[in-house]
Amino acid sequence: MAVITGGGKGIGAAIARALSREGSKVVIADLDAEAAAQVAAELPQNTAMAVGGDASDSAFLQHLLDSAEREFGAVTTFVANAGVIGAGGLDAPEQMWDLAFDVNVRAHVRAAQLLMPRWVERGEGTFVSVASAAGLLTQLGSAPYSVTKHAALAFAEWLAVTYGARGIGVHCVCPMGVNTELLHNAQSGGADGELAYRAVTTAGAVLDPAEVADAVIHGIRDGRFLILPHPEVLDMFQGKAAGYERWIGGMRWYQQKLQG
Ligand SMILES: NC(=O)c1ccc[n+]([C@@H]2O[C@H](COP(=O)([O-])OP(=O)(O)OC[C@H]3O[C@@H](n4cnc5c(N)ncnc54)[C@H](O)[C@@H]3O)[C@@H](O)[C@H]2O)c1
Repeated sequence: MAVITGGGKGIGAAIARALSREGSKVVIADLDAEAAAQVAAELPQNTAMAVGGDASDSAFLQHLLDSAEREFGAVTTFVANAGVIGAGGLDAPEQMWDLAFDVNVRAHVRAAQLLMPRWVERGEGTFVSVASAAGLLTQLGSAPYSVTKHAALAFAEWLAVTYGARGIGVHCVCPMGVNTELLHNAQSGGADGELAYRAVTTAGAVLDPAEVADAVIHGIRDGRFLILPHPEVLDMFQGKAAGYERWIGGMRWYQQKLQG
């Protein structure tokens, strides 16, 4: 059985549908309880459940896992997908940094704290972290998003290294643009929001959430850590590692070009 946070919309909803098609029971958690219930209602009867709440809250996570296990048995897959973006640089308010760290990073840590002891005992479990290409590269127009997506990737790497030999699968999903509310809402964040939106939508194709979900299903099946729905992100990442100074210069140039 799989639990998906932020499963009421966008990429999370698409992953829930895809896992359900693969025959898994799914538990859809979202701050927006109604959106989660709508996705659950689309799926075959008695195979899906919705739970409303904040995926970054430890008490909620405990309640979510307990309810999921009561309904459908052991949680075998956890998709840490809920995420937030806020546009801004040094002017980004403390609350924006706190929210980004809570939802994009600490939610993953808190879920892993609850799941890993059970999974190590059973010798199996699959943890899917939905980070972003911003975690491998950067996000123009948003310092909190860049930093917290790097942190989510770092945490997933650490989990994979630490638990991978004990039967636990860890996967980190790093898409560029995906056609969801999160991407479109980024645009409303003033000049930085516009920059973030333009950077994402001009760097490569804007995928449908279902395409990301397909990549996730294949990546889990192949046992790959890094799941890249936009395959060109691998070239970008390798280019960054091969010539870090040149990459920073190139990103400066790209930012200036987008700012006109
Ligand atoms: N859309 C993109 O271009 C893109 C690209 C790369 C990575 N991502 C990542 O994919 C993930 C999903 O984003 P999306 O684009 O589908 O966004 P979305 O806004 O369409 O959906 C996110 C869902 O998460 C829920 N949510 C937000 N905070 C929550 C919380 N604290 N607890 C529970 N639910 C919460 C929202 O209610 C919403 O239903 C995020 O982690 C995002 O950073 C998105």
